[in-house]
Amino acid sequence: MQARELIKEGERRLKRSPAIDHWPADREWRDAAVLLAHALGEGDRDEPDDLEAEVPGRAAGRFRRLVRRRAGGEPIAHIVGWTEFRGLHLRIRPGAFVPRQSSEWTVEQVVRRLRPRRRPVHVDVATGMGPIALAVAAEVPAAEVHGTDLLAAGLRQGANNARRLGIRNATFHVGDLFDALPPHLRAAVDAVTLHPPYVPRLEVGDLPLEVRGFEPEPTLTDYSEHGMGLVERTVEEARAWLASGGWLLVEVSSDRSRRVRGLLQRAGYEDVRSTRGWPDITRTVVGRWAPR
Ligand SMILES: C[S@@+](CC[C@H](N)C(=O)[O-])C[C@H]1O[C@@H](n2cnc3c(N)ncnc32)[C@H](O)[C@@H]1O
Repeated sequence: MQARELIKEGERRLKRSPAIDHWPADREWRDAAVLLAHALGEGDRDEPDDLEAEVPGRAAGRFRRLVRRRAGGEPIAHIVGWTEFRGLHLRIRPGAFVPRQSSEWTVEQVVRRLRPRRRPVHVDVATGMGPIALAVAAEVPAAEVHGTDLLAAGLRQGANNARRLGIRNATFHVGDLFDALPPHLRAAVDAVTLHPPYVPRLEVGDLPLEVRGFEPEPTLTDYSEHGMGLVERTVEEARAWLASGGWLLVEVSSDRSRRVRGLLQRAGYEDVRSTRGWPDITRTVVGRWAPR
């Protein structure tokens, strides 16, 4: 069978799967194309080199087995072992939150604020496997970047990716929010980013199987009733770590952004607003810490 036809076959199978989120519209085609390139042994590519070429029977069999795994909900990044984030090719294994494209906008927002500063310090709390920290470190080479998380498995992946990619200005620390940071960073941080777990405790069961079945639960929820527990703590605690004029940036779903804006305003942050990137499913709420 031709590569293109086989991808279409995989796409049809994935579209029928109740385990995966069918968004955006071309997602199943793109997943099937990645899986076929993987099955053909073409390496980490978005699609096979030649879509018109005949696929050998053994590779077609491998492809169909991979499609079955994906249709069962296994994240594409876990199956092929890589993902791309802000142009960085990241190796990934189960045990950490899979980076989302929406966080690329958070990177855009923080990079814009850090670039004009001479030797900026950036802290990404709840960093997971560190996509935001790694992208900022790569795009602002003068920055000193720190990522923190409770789960060591993700941080190890972050550190390994940093080594592989030759990123030397990012360091990862195991710990609760700001607890593991070097104390001399108090009141010296130019930007704090947070892409938190914000699903209310009782709504985790409503998530698609590909999320609730394959990503560690503490990456999805902070176990609070409203899901805003970690955001509230970060808004509060970041004030001791931010330099005057430093920024807090919090990525949440669009329906939560008003609530987060209110939290920042009540805590005394200035220039608080909600920024909207692509894909249009999340907002990055930003606020500047400028105590008088
Ligand atoms: C939605 S994931 C986001 C991960 C990463 N920022 C990203 O965008 O890929 C939320 C992360 O928060 C971490 N986390 C939960 N509670 C935490 C805490 N108290 N301190 C630090 N990290 C925490 C989880 O382990 C998980 O990695």
